[in-house]
Amino acid sequence: MLADKEGLGPSLTDQVVASFAATPDERLRTVMQSLVRHLHAFVNEVELTEAEWMAAVRFLTATGKMCDDVVRQEFILLSDTLGVSMLVDAINHRYATGATDSTVFGPFYIDGMPEREFGETMALTPGTPALVHGRVLTTDGEPIAGAVLDVWQTAENGMYSGQDTAQQHGNLRGRYRTDASGCYAISTIVPVSYPIPTDGPVGKMLEATGRHPWRPAHMHFMIDAPGFRTLVTHLFDEGDPYLGSDAVFGVKPSLMVAYRERPASDALARQFSFDGAFREARYDFVLDRGLKE
Ligand code: BEZ
Ligand code: FE
Repeated sequence: MLADKEGLGPSLTDQVVASFAATPDERLRTVMQSLVRHLHAFVNEVELTEAEWMAAVRFLTATGKMCDDVVRQEFILLSDTLGVSMLVDAINHRYATGATDSTVFGPFYIDGMPEREFGETMALTPGTPALVHGRVLTTDGEPIAGAVLDVWQTAENGMYSGQDTAQQHGNLRGRYRTDASGCYAISTIVPVSYPIPTDGPVGKMLEATGRHPWRPAHMHFMIDAPGFRTLVTHLFDEGDPYLGSDAVFGVKPSLMVAYRERPASDALARQFSFDGAFREARYDFVLDRGLKE
């Protein structure tokens, strides 16, 4: 490791840090100076070779080339698989408010998906029929009417519509609204575990390091209501084998649900037009009043 040498003037690291001293924006100055210190410490610690440095440049270049404006964001995937996305999430939601926990946003959200009726199905492809329902509440337990739940999940093949061009527009996506009692209801299929995309540099990194690419089965939610902080979260299937080794570290114990078997004779089957046995998952979301991000 290169140590600062007494009497030889400021170290390289100190010179680079000092070069940012006149940055007018104080926060930008803090971030850049800290970034330089940590980056130099990392290079020093592993004694990076020139070949490794060049490989890193090629890796980051390939990561950028793998991004598009719609469904592929390899940099988010890199952040997710290195745990950075969940670290940012933890720092920005560090105080317990009584609200539902948040988790990683992921790269597969698409804005402007169909608005759906209470209990309408969003599944245009086959799977195990499921009803996911519950309420959206304040931290005082009051129902929130008119909250919008933007929901997305993969098809049984483990791919999202948009990502998989064979799926119809809006498949397994939709925007639901809570009724006057704060209730929401989504007819769908039971989500499946699926691998994150491995055809890019992130996949190569996982393979080279002996890591698997699987995420436990989940549904994504982004929940919005006027006067409340937007909640970005998932509901995980509590029986999934990958809960303990999510490739993107997004699992939180408070976000698990059971998909319980219900017979065709169940009253909910009639209410929500299931024509056979189905699964039922129930979950109440709690939103935090507070500043919008
Ligand atoms: C997802 O759940 O959609 C996801 C999250 C992080 C990385 C890749 C996919
Ligand atoms: Fe997902």
